[in-house]
Amino acid sequence: MDDLFAGSLPAAEPLGDGAVLLRGRAGADAGALLAAIEAIAAVAPFRQFTTPGGREMSVAMTNAGVAGWVSDRAGYRYQGEDPLTGRPWPAMPAPFAALAREAAAEAGFAGFAPDVCLINRYRPGTKLSLHQDRDEADLGHPIVSVSLGLPATFQFGGLARTDPVRKVPLVHGDIVVWGGPARLAYHGILTLKAGEHPATGPLRYNLTFRRSG
Ligand code: SIN
Ligand code: FE2
Repeated sequence: MDDLFAGSLPAAEPLGDGAVLLRGRAGADAGALLAAIEAIAAVAPFRQFTTPGGREMSVAMTNAGVAGWVSDRAGYRYQGEDPLTGRPWPAMPAPFAALAREAAAEAGFAGFAPDVCLINRYRPGTKLSLHQDRDEADLGHPIVSVSLGLPATFQFGGLARTDPVRKVPLVHGDIVVWGGPARLAYHGILTLKAGEHPATGPLRYNLTFRRSG
């Protein structure tokens, strides 16, 4: 077997037209990403947003970048200040943006320049219901999603909520990229199972890189 390039680029597994799983792609950067998450959360703490319908989300969130994704009774949106502190969100670390850009290019979306990063923190028992990422002004940019810590089952469906959903196991270091014809695909995370991960203990983190405007 010719493994001259083994370890340089992971195999890209298509999840559909415009969606790709880069298995383990963030593995080498995981320690740096987790340290950066800790630094970001020290300034902009994880919190559970309320949905426009008045329910508290089970997943805790924070953001880095020029704006942050927020939710409250008034709706979902990006805003430049953290509603918890009234201060700008912490800057997105440059290595984060570089990793997201490279992953997007490997998935076929060259030139991605994310300006925001939503950070999700899952504990066992939490989940993220099927939804579309549609609060960004220009849907021509892809989404780059990095998984860290405990494993989870990612649901990836089609453009209609009722389309069949594929169940994709995601583990520490995996990156999923979706854009183009898959940009508005419904997706979600099934209820997280209990566990302990050497890097994160009883937690899963997900970073989603987006271009907000
Ligand atoms: C999201 O849809 O924002 C997060 C997906 C994930 O946690 O993998
Ligand atoms: Fe999403």
